[in-house]
Amino acid sequence: MARILVIDDNDTMREGMAVTLKKAGHEVLAFRSGADGVTAYKAKGADLVVTDLKMDGMDGLAVVSALKAHDPLAVVVLVTAFGDIETAVDAMRRGAYDFITKPFSPDVLRAKADSALELARTRSQVRKLEARNDALASDAADKVGRSLIGDSEPMAKLAAQVARAAQADATVLVLGESGTGKELVARMLHDLSPRKNGPFISTHCAALAETLLESELFGHERGAFTGAVKRKLGRFELADGGTIFLDELGEISHATQTKLLRVLQEREIQRVGGEDTVKVDVRVVCATHRDLKAEVAAGRFREDLYYRLAVVPLHLPALRERPEDIGLLARHFVQKHAGRINPKVKGLTPEALGALSRYAWPGNVRELENSIEQALVFADGTALSEKDLPAFLQSAQAQAANTAGALPIPHGDRPLPDILEDLERQLIERAYEKAKRVKTETARLLGIKTSALYYKLEKYGFIQKGEAAPLEP
Ligand SMILES: Nc1ncnc2c1ncn2[C@@H]1O[C@H](COP(=O)(O)OP(=O)(O)OP(=O)(O)O)[C@@H](O)[C@H]1O
Ligand SMILES: [Mg+2]
Repeated sequence: MARILVIDDNDTMREGMAVTLKKAGHEVLAFRSGADGVTAYKAKGADLVVTDLKMDGMDGLAVVSALKAHDPLAVVVLVTAFGDIETAVDAMRRGAYDFITKPFSPDVLRAKADSALELARTRSQVRKLEARNDALASDAADKVGRSLIGDSEPMAKLAAQVARAAQADATVLVLGESGTGKELVARMLHDLSPRKNGPFISTHCAALAETLLESELFGHERGAFTGAVKRKLGRFELADGGTIFLDELGEISHATQTKLLRVLQEREIQRVGGEDTVKVDVRVVCATHRDLKAEVAAGRFREDLYYRLAVVPLHLPALRERPEDIGLLARHFVQKHAGRINPKVKGLTPEALGALSRYAWPGNVRELENSIEQALVFADGTALSEKDLPAFLQSAQAQAANTAGALPIPHGDRPLPDILEDLERQLIERAYEKAKRVKTETARLLGIKTSALYYKLEKYGFIQKGEAAPLEP
């Protein structure tokens, strides 16, 4: 028997739903307003909340947001009118589990409630584990805090969620824009889990063609296809006893989705071209920058697979949603990279921090890290200053003062390749001077091979043709 809250301001609808769910053997509490329903949830919790969308006062969307803010694992099903699909999809983005379109039969309501309650049961196991492992979890939270930089509110919440999720063996879906730290979180989920001494196997699903991906994940038998000269173990078998990280899995084909669903349900795999099934003990962590719920709504991603993967969803905030972390991250990256690139640099000037804080960071933490690395290459002092930063981060003032770093302005018929060459020549010249004309050092600063540097130095006339040809590094 589950505890279900039903919220609807229409008396007939509310009572009808309550009766149906009670008949199915559940404990049902019904509420006429969203606010009352949310208050009841906060006071005593529930396994499932079924709420109408259009209500006076607090509407269904607001109910979803309020419940999710209070309890990220809350399971909510939304009741919508025909033609309200867009709002329903919006609600799913906010974390609703599913929606039911009016009019519907009692059977439909029962079926939707059953599948939502199945998820609720897995989540309640996660919660129980969380409670039992509190001491472990607080230790883990400490560790997360040290490697996941940021003390903004969204990051503090995330750190706590990561620490807890790591303790449970549940499948985790890591969502977030590019560069927000999805892979970092996936590694942490493994490192802080009881499986930490087992393997962590990472697979970039979008990088491989469909047939390759299948044999990569599940392995193949000898002779399974042309070129399969011997048996090969797949990533799932390699990850046995540990964690498999499926990165960018928003892109996988329907056929692979079906196979993946089977692994998650049966915990066994079949090698490509093989008959035998092989048991695997693997914890699955997935990530995608896509909006998977929208992919489900568009019919490109299997709904049942989505729910298997999203037992514990973790949303990584974009950097622009937590600008207060920029300074902390920037200092962290200076410390992380200065030793290798430019050991004299110990920090950043307030102007540089200001410039970093004004930018929106569409590439998120990765873009910030790259910008700091670039700036370290050219910094002269002990602190990174605004003029060391990539040009797109500098204010007009700093750019004017920094003629060497200023971008040549395209004018008239000057083609782009010309401008890029110009820029390349300037960058190489600056690095060459900075490295006191030591070529291996210049190449290291620029992050290119010494042989490539020789070619470019020659091309731009900094050295004579044929001058001491380098050995491959
Ligand atoms: N909160 C953070 N604290 C410290 N470093 C971070 C944080 N978030 C991200 N990074 C660093 O930023 C870089 C990008 O992170 P990561 O590769 O995990 O992002 P991603 O979400 O997987 O990106 P993509 O979608 O581009 O693959 C990594 O070097 C990572 O260590
Ligand atoms: Mg990644």
